[in-house]
Amino acid sequence: MSWVKALSARGLGDSERKVVQVGGQKILLVNLKGKVYAVDSTCPHMGASLARGEVSDDGLITCPWHGSSFRLESGEVQSWTPRPPLVGRLLGLLRKKKQLRVYPAKVEGGSVWVDVEQ
Ligand code: FES
Repeated sequence: MSWVKALSARGLGDSERKVVQVGGQKILLVNLKGKVYAVDSTCPHMGASLARGEVSDDGLITCPWHGSSFRLESGEVQSWTPRPPLVGRLLGLLRKKKQLRVYPAKVEGGSVWVDVEQ
């Protein structure tokens, strides 16, 4: 493991999210009910920013462009390009279904740490 300090834990309150640069990569940090998740900041479908994606209470993030949703814990695809109806299905065929990259994250010593080498 190669932990890198991403930001002060005070900078990521409950239900907040923030994009940080760690190890040359843009990582989206999400604080959901006190647990911090670190994922790629862009959607694996066509690269939309997930910073404005909807986060559900059960730990899913949904892309604002075509509605693909991913589990924050594992990056597993829950839904692939459902929006808009019909066109979204066609757009989904352009890129093979791919899970969202996730990174280990922890809060320790008042800071949020991310391991981008995993
Ligand atoms: S860019 Fe995210 S679902 Fe298409």
